[in-house]
Amino acid sequence: MRRIPVDTTVTAPRPGRTQRLHLRAAGVSVVLDVTDGRIPAVAHWGAELGELGAAGLDAVCEATVDPVPQNAVDVPVRIGLLPQQSDGWIGRPGLSGSRPDGSGWVPRLVTDGIELDGHPLTTAHAETGAATVRFALADEEQGLDVGLEVQLLPTGLLRLRATLTNTGASAYSLDELTLALPVPADADELLDFAGRWTKERTPQRRAFTVGTHLRENRRGRTGADAAHVLHAGRAGFGFRGGEVWGVHTAFSGNHRHLAEQINTGRRVLGGGELLLPGEVRLESAEQYEGPWLYASYGEGLDAVASRFHRHLRSREHHVDRQRPVTLNVWEAVYFDHDLARLTALADRAADLGVERYVLDDGWFGSRRDDFSGLGDWVVSDEVWPDGLDPLIAHVTGRGMEFGLWFEPEMVNEDSEVARAHPEWVLGPSPATLPLESRHQQVLNLALPEAYAHVRDQMMALLDEYDIAYLKWDHNRDLLEAATRDTGRAAVHEQTLAAYRLMDELKTAHPGLEIESCSSGGARVDLAVLEHTDRVWVSDCIDPLERAQMNRWTSQLIPLELMGSHIASGRSHTTGRLHTLSFRAHSALFGHLGIEWDLAEASREELAELRAWIALYRERRELLFRGDLVRADRGESPLWIQGVVSPERDEALFSLTAVGRSATSLDARLRLPGLDPAATYRLRPLLIGERPSNLFPPPWMQRALDEDGLVLPGAVLVRSGLAAPLFDPEQGMLLSLVREPAPAR
Ligand code: GLA
Repeated sequence: MRRIPVDTTVTAPRPGRTQRLHLRAAGVSVVLDVTDGRIPAVAHWGAELGELGAAGLDAVCEATVDPVPQNAVDVPVRIGLLPQQSDGWIGRPGLSGSRPDGSGWVPRLVTDGIELDGHPLTTAHAETGAATVRFALADEEQGLDVGLEVQLLPTGLLRLRATLTNTGASAYSLDELTLALPVPADADELLDFAGRWTKERTPQRRAFTVGTHLRENRRGRTGADAAHVLHAGRAGFGFRGGEVWGVHTAFSGNHRHLAEQINTGRRVLGGGELLLPGEVRLESAEQYEGPWLYASYGEGLDAVASRFHRHLRSREHHVDRQRPVTLNVWEAVYFDHDLARLTALADRAADLGVERYVLDDGWFGSRRDDFSGLGDWVVSDEVWPDGLDPLIAHVTGRGMEFGLWFEPEMVNEDSEVARAHPEWVLGPSPATLPLESRHQQVLNLALPEAYAHVRDQMMALLDEYDIAYLKWDHNRDLLEAATRDTGRAAVHEQTLAAYRLMDELKTAHPGLEIESCSSGGARVDLAVLEHTDRVWVSDCIDPLERAQMNRWTSQLIPLELMGSHIASGRSHTTGRLHTLSFRAHSALFGHLGIEWDLAEASREELAELRAWIALYRERRELLFRGDLVRADRGESPLWIQGVVSPERDEALFSLTAVGRSATSLDARLRLPGLDPAATYRLRPLLIGERPSNLFPPPWMQRALDEDGLVLPGAVLVRSGLAAPLFDPEQGMLLSLVREPAPAR
């Protein structure tokens, strides 16, 4: 075996063993290379390589070692999962920190041991399926230990996290622990997301050039502008094609994603928590555990998304597929909590087939608007003189579950709790508070007394009332978030405390579901979804905007976790007017709800709404177990997305016109994900008002006149069908069912 030359000076990493692992699952291979005891490097993360055997494994590791360019370090540089200068990496280091005397900032970690699925790895080679590998890394001289956990999950999704232990005698201030995964040099385009309130997850693409594309978040919450998934791929990659590598940092506090290319052309995708100055200071023997960095590879964005979806769906605590149709009262009544109005709304909802009713903001303390009362989780005598019982009894009596809104981390300065305990509010010093945002401040849940206060108030309500669901809001960024009497940064502890509180409430109330909301969709990440059961995608329920936001939110999470509501005809956040059929069409591919004052709906609208709800209830099993597919249609404003059952015997597709095109005829409809060898009966579904100016092509007219049309899968997938014409901001559904194979 050819040995890679190592520096032999006294301070070099001590030569250790060479051990290599090949993990394979669901079409993905990950080859991990520990050469001479250096920290693990990824020799390959991408398409499955098949069984390699020891010789093949050595070949992958050796054949991917770069030559040594002139005027560079004299050994080939392998980028470790925790990149470090001592291995020749000149880009962003994985581990940064220092001791009071200034030492400790350049770690020289080496691999001390490897465990594969809990057993020490004693062989030089290991080849296995989905597995967990633990690397024990140490820098004895500088007193730093890192436990690096790498998991290839059965879905082919990779995830890694690092735990740092200070084994030295003095304190170690940790500045950064960022994990990095190399991607090939032909991944030359980046795709990630931007956004703001009411416009979350807006895609942005750029060339992957030399330098760092750094997405830092200092909001103390995931953010409406979160990178969401940071992808690199071959330029022009789409939903269905082009190799793509994507990473997601699973953390709901400050965090980062990065794509970095150094001047050799070598590039990485990475992520980790963003630590504020002094936030993590480890005394001797103390530990810090970083968040999971998820990494998904696939041919096309659908394949990348599908690994995330399958992983989430495989979790024990994942929601069932009968996601109840939900009515949230926010856009219906805002702060007008009136029992008669709310019970009438409940009656209308129940008549339509709604299964869960959620009372939003305004039921507690002095909260009659958003200036006061936040943080006082006691039912208001003023608006609810008989408590919530009359409403809850009415809702549950009509066969619906009851849900209640909270914003547990927040307070108005004008509240009982903030007045009694100003020291519980996060702020830079005892004398100063951060700027208010939405007229509110943040409670320091890392303080045990503050945590206990919120927990006890929430628990008392959960004990007293029949509450099946919490909408957990978080409506501001954390500015200058410090423990007031010490001035020490507190976002890290705050984020963990929120997770803890969610878990404690759920443990005490098994079956309780929690929705993660944050000014709409500013807390959507895989860590919060370990503790919650759905996210609110956005406060913007305009169906045109939602078509885009839902499309990209589903790049990370499956449809059943995305709250998706039908609102009033004029959008409250954009002022646009839309037909009910377009509003419902756009909401259908998600966890369906209504957020509309049904007292204003006409008899016809209620009848149409009932039909949409019935369709959702009939199809939710498919929507929430099937595979999401999105067609690549270039610049065409007619978007196609669908859900195909895993057996490919059933599918529901949506055609959504998000704009007008410069040409009068559109590209053919090709429906990805179906089985080209099968035959399907295709039925266009027209519920409620037809799209205006609908000009169906002959095949569609026939399918509408008869009981659908039977077509070969190859035609649907490959040659395609002439596209119908209809006005923008309208949609159509196509239902497909596999025809029984003809008897031979
Ligand atoms: C946030 C949420 C909304 C609603 C309001 C209540 O903005 O995103 O859905 O709950 O708070 O104040």
